[in-house]
Amino acid sequence: MSDILSQYKGCSIKDLPTPNFIINEEKFDRNCTAMLNNVETLSQQCGVPIKFRAHVKTHKTVKGTLKQLGHGLPLATRTTRAILVSTLKEAVELLDHQDSGCLDYINDISYSLPCCVPEFIPLLSNLSRRVDNLQVFVDNIEHLENLRKFGRPASGKKWSIFIKVDMGTNRAGLAFDSSDFLNLLKFLSSPGTKEIIEPYGFYAHAGHSYSSATIYDTQNLLIEEIKAVNCAAKVLCSMDPTIDASGLTLSVGATPTSNSLKLDNKSTLVKLITTELIGNLEIHCGNYCMYDLQQVATGCVQDCELSGFVLGTVLSSYPSRGELLSNTGVMSLTRESSSIKGFGNCVDLQQVLGSEEFSRDWYVARISQEHGILKPRRKWEDTSPLKLGTKFAVLPQHVCITMGQFPYYFVANSQGIVTDVWVPFQKW
Ligand SMILES: Cc1ncc(COP(=O)(O)O)c(C=O)c1O
Repeated sequence: MSDILSQYKGCSIKDLPTPNFIINEEKFDRNCTAMLNNVETLSQQCGVPIKFRAHVKTHKTVKGTLKQLGHGLPLATRTTRAILVSTLKEAVELLDHQDSGCLDYINDISYSLPCCVPEFIPLLSNLSRRVDNLQVFVDNIEHLENLRKFGRPASGKKWSIFIKVDMGTNRAGLAFDSSDFLNLLKFLSSPGTKEIIEPYGFYAHAGHSYSSATIYDTQNLLIEEIKAVNCAAKVLCSMDPTIDASGLTLSVGATPTSNSLKLDNKSTLVKLITTELIGNLEIHCGNYCMYDLQQVATGCVQDCELSGFVLGTVLSSYPSRGELLSNTGVMSLTRESSSIKGFGNCVDLQQVLGSEEFSRDWYVARISQEHGILKPRRKWEDTSPLKLGTKFAVLPQHVCITMGQFPYYFVANSQGIVTDVWVPFQKW
């Protein structure tokens, strides 16, 4: 990719080939700084340490990870060394980079997919040798049986597990009041298991917070996430009195619920944390460094806070049906949706780098493999036409998945000049 960088460094984004993915570095930095500072503020308001764990799944890059951890962000009030990964490849490549430079920016990795089945356990075991703290996710008694059968991981320490708690998303995890959950904890507390496996803590991710419409809804869901992991920890401690609750991590978050930390009024949240928690609170999230229309739809962010977009070109025009053709089809945008109509909002390139609210004249109404059909939100006659050949930005619906379509991302400054190219650890 150094060829790409040498070819385009210093160019205006207007001169880049399309479709491509662009990151506005200043907005990325601002988003990372804001989240670190919001967690720090909560920690100070509660008078207890609250850890932040960054999910790197959205961009899957070294440079993006460093920023999420707080490096190179002069206004960030804290840093962190803890990450979440969505694939083993993300962990391995980040550790390869760290080792090759004799660096030490990550010391704590959680792999957020419950995958303790025979195919993956040897890989997790190898990974355990490479990082001080590795947590694997568990939500099935068979996961524990498999780990116990395998024995201790290559690090020689016990398997450190995050028990995934489902608090309404119905994706992965167990409800803390379910019989499956109780059986899992019983097995965890049995003598043969305790030699091999130890609980690191409980983990909740309110994926359903993505359908929230206001920041107050997301704050309520953050409170529910915290209550769920706290209840789960209480159940474990009541079943096994040898467990020291103060050593358990209670990890919660999704970008919408974590964004609710922006609210000035956090009295209910602060009271819950200071009076009821039996373990150590950790906030985790990932999408927040980029944002997308799904996040705008939650009411927690504005579209001008998005730090990335797809660059596309207008290819043809059909005035009789009031539509334009672009090259931003499903291969570049994906087929994600939200309460915001269409598959992406079109924004003028002059506007997209700024911080003023965007006009929303055009959106991507239909997509096939490489065709993107743009429609105006108002009547065709009342909308300023986009000429053939015009380059424009599309704000994607779900940026984590959109970025997965691109082999590299152009990084631009606020003047729209390319400064870097980030290469992601794509796929598996
Ligand atoms: C298990 C898990 N934890 C955390 C996250 C991060 O959530 P978000 O991207 O909303 O911050 C995700 C994202 O999909 C996830 O699957």
